Amino acid sequence: MIPFKSQQEQAAALQLDADGNLKHFLTLDGLDRALLIDILDRSKGFVGVAQQAVKKVPLCRGKIVANLFFETSTRTRTTFELAAKRLSADVLNLNISTSATAKGETLLDTLRNLEAMHVDMFVVRHADSGAAHFIATHVAPPVAVINAGDGCYSHPTQAMLDMFTIREHKRDFAGLTVAIVGDVLHSRVARSQIVALNTLGVDEVRVVGPSTLVPERAEAALGVRVCHDLREGLRDVDVIILLRLQNERMDGGFLPSEHEYFHLFGLTEKRLGIAKPDAIVMHPGPINRGVEMDSSVADGARSVILEQVSNGLAVRMAVMSMCIGTQNLALAAAGKAAEAELADG
Ligand code: CP
Repeated sequence: MIPFKSQQEQAAALQLDADGNLKHFLTLDGLDRALLIDILDRSKGFVGVAQQAVKKVPLCRGKIVANLFFETSTRTRTTFELAAKRLSADVLNLNISTSATAKGETLLDTLRNLEAMHVDMFVVRHADSGAAHFIATHVAPPVAVINAGDGCYSHPTQAMLDMFTIREHKRDFAGLTVAIVGDVLHSRVARSQIVALNTLGVDEVRVVGPSTLVPERAEAALGVRVCHDLREGLRDVDVIILLRLQNERMDGGFLPSEHEYFHLFGLTEKRLGIAKPDAIVMHPGPINRGVEMDSSVADGARSVILEQVSNGLAVRMAVMSMCIGTQNLALAAAGKAAEAELADG
């Protein structure tokens, strides 16, 4: 009997080729430390492109990247577009609200039509968890799919740009305590960050928030320490990651009010004093000022929020170029196989 694969093994099998190269980037589940470090190292190499007179490299020249954003986005969509352009790809930005999706076209039909235009890579954001996996299992090989955030499940490039930012400030992951504060229940960012932080070997990941916004059995299921008290959660941490309250994914009953939330879990300069003196403050954006944190913290000396955005460009260039590199290997192998078949007559 063939044993069922674990969710992690399935995710790895879908995302990696037989040699362990990245084909798709859908989730951090099942990816090992060496691969995450490789992504961070390659990202470092792309930071310099922003300082060049001509901010372009030819790694994806001749490739077509289609950005399919079925949910709103500012940072992720624009940095994916810019990353693709800096890699010299041609970019299609489908405006979903004015596309045939609004007339009822199915996701698969939209994909098939874009495939008919020889798109090489789809970057997908969707409200449904699993949408990027679904697309990756339906595209024609070797088309690559990158998850730009699906439902409450995964936002792998956000987590990797966060890891890049942490490494720039703290150098090593070992020895770090990281607090993730807020609406963890609805956060694809938090899920991906927790996987990344544990894979990269931090000492402790703390999840801090009201019991209504922390997943049940988070300690065992996610490998974190849960704190429902902000003071306890922030004590001696190296990194504070604040999360947005995802009101669009709540149907009431999670919180008495935003005012109450800020009173109990909002980050103020005084509360920042509970963390280590050199602790950094992060937020994936968009920020709700006065809800998740005071403006003085968001704009303060310990905030690295805008660095996260800049780093997102380099990380997305790294991930896209890795997937296109794997695609080129597959195309070369298919070309050789076709030649051999012809030679065999
Ligand atoms: N962090 C993030 O995903 O932001 P956007 O929704 O603006 O893309």
